[in-house]
Amino acid sequence: MATPEVFKTCAAMREYCDGARAGGMSVGFVPTMGALHEGHISLMRRARGENDRLVVSIFVNPTQFGPGEDIEEYPRDLSGDLDSCLGVDADAVFAPTAREMYEPGACTFVEQSVLTEVLCGAFRPTHFKGVLTVVAKLFNVVGPCRAYFGQKDYQQCVVIRRMVRDLNVPVEVVMCPIVREPDGIAMSSRNNYLSQEERSDALCLSQALAIAKKRLKQGERRSSELVAAMRNHINNVKSATIDYVAVVHPDTLQPVSVIEDRAVAALAVRIGSTRLIDNAILGDE
Ligand code: PAF
Repeated sequence: MATPEVFKTCAAMREYCDGARAGGMSVGFVPTMGALHEGHISLMRRARGENDRLVVSIFVNPTQFGPGEDIEEYPRDLSGDLDSCLGVDADAVFAPTAREMYEPGACTFVEQSVLTEVLCGAFRPTHFKGVLTVVAKLFNVVGPCRAYFGQKDYQQCVVIRRMVRDLNVPVEVVMCPIVREPDGIAMSSRNNYLSQEERSDALCLSQALAIAKKRLKQGERRSSELVAAMRNHINNVKSATIDYVAVVHPDTLQPVSVIEDRAVAALAVRIGSTRLIDNAILGDE
């Protein structure tokens, strides 16, 4: 396995990817904010298997942090991340500075309505504008054939897919399954913020989703009942504060009242001061 080449500038990263495509190679892309864990590694493995070249970006994107969300606190571990990239045989890592990604005076952003106004967007009103802008910029630099995102950020996957469709971006967006710790908690860089006690309280998210799945299997198709059961479970945990618990349509993200075929149960819960999200596809068994 060769050490991945690390690129710091958009121009050098683009030249590498242009060269790969000119040589007839497919480019798979995994955008990340670093602090790589098994969830990211599963995306990178999948991308590795499906493409001739694997490019991973590591960039803590300032524009997706809202007021009061401390970007300085976000975990960073570039050398550990490079080891993880080596471990999955990535070809190239794009690790630009904020100054490289956002030139002074940058005033062009990608905004999306409707899908970004619900769920996390209702609580983090500027978040998806930052995500979509940086993802569009990264797509323009890398020009991937396929880009891989985790289902844990379900709404992010949906809004990126819609941007790609609406702006005719020539990339296939691949959503990969959630990777969980053995006890059920979804892998997330934010888990690093949890104290030992909070880490155990945080299990209430995946447990609530398991309750919804079980109730559905037993025949309960009314979302209101499933939401009530999930809320009830989470509310028993003292350190937990619910931002939202919802059962929504998988594409429109609008609430569904009765689950006909497929829906998504989505939650955002603060455990102490750490905001965690999780979700499960309902009704596809
Ligand atoms: O999911 C993430 O880590 C980020 O939102 C992304 C897609 C890398 C954009 O900064």
